[in-house]
Amino acid sequence: MSWIREGELNLLEKISANVLKAGPMPKHVAFIMDGNRRFARKKNMERQEGHMQGFDKLAETLRWCKHLNIQEVTVYAFSIENFKRTQDEVDGLMELARQKFERLLEERDNLEKHGVCIRVLGDLNMLPLDLQELIAKAVITTRSHNNDVSEALLSECLYSNNSPNPDLLIRTSGEVRLSDFLLWQTSHSCLVFQSVLWPEYSFWNLCEAILQYQLNHKSIQKARDLYREHQALQQLEADRSCVAEHLQHHGNGKPVDAQRRQEALLHYTACREERVQEFVQLLKHKRDSFFTDLCSKAVLT
Ligand code: IPE
Ligand code: IPE
Ligand code: MG
Repeated sequence: MSWIREGELNLLEKISANVLKAGPMPKHVAFIMDGNRRFARKKNMERQEGHMQGFDKLAETLRWCKHLNIQEVTVYAFSIENFKRTQDEVDGLMELARQKFERLLEERDNLEKHGVCIRVLGDLNMLPLDLQELIAKAVITTRSHNNDVSEALLSECLYSNNSPNPDLLIRTSGEVRLSDFLLWQTSHSCLVFQSVLWPEYSFWNLCEAILQYQLNHKSIQKARDLYREHQALQQLEADRSCVAEHLQHHGNGKPVDAQRRQEALLHYTACREERVQEFVQLLKHKRDSFFTDLCSKAVLT
């Protein structure tokens, strides 16, 4: 049997899904699946059973996402902080994650055919040392300029760089914090906090969150556009000031006409973009080898 259960929505769910789909839909949804232990306590069951039902709820939720044409789902399943839990709980969670994510990967091709892409992230993105060290090394190797390091470039350096930022982030169990999850990537996302415990999450809870997104869609879009414009303007100003400095240094004090200034700006921008691409490739390469080393060490121990 497929873990990400195949199955149709019932009539009422189908009608509701179609009504929602008539409005703007989030393409990428992130979940902080919280509340497994409280659910287990509430139902007088073993803690591990609560975690198990939490993983199964993920499968069900992915199925709803598929029916709602949500193309990408990112889930927060375990954080570095969670290692501070008892060894017994951590072992149980790791074993569950290994089993369930293995099945998820097996079924991913099938799911992707339906247009749902899944990624599972921890809070590694926020490990400042890792990123800072890699960036510092890459800056030296590619002879990048200080002016090349912009917010846009930093976004490209994160593990999530090959996917658009989430449109909607949902945290269950009534906790109203992000616990370091996708902090950078959700600065212009709709954040929805719901009181339901994760294993009890329902299709209707998901619809309610999407409705919240739709109600806020215009203002989110506006904030994103403004941010993009602001970033482009900042980059243009930084490039202009570098070009002006360069021309002043090499122009022997002679005035520079507007056409020459414009040509120099275009040339500078093209060179900067080339340096940035080289930088991103190098960073990617360093990170890939970092993970390959990490995995081989894990296999050896
Ligand atoms: C979320 O549920 C799952 C993980 C963190 C792995 P919790 O285990 O945090 O459950 P609560 O929040 O204590 O109820
Ligand atoms: C949150 O874990 C992250 C996940 C759900 C995986 P916790 O439920 O332990 O978060 P905090 O520590 O209470 O914020
Ligand atoms: Mg919790």
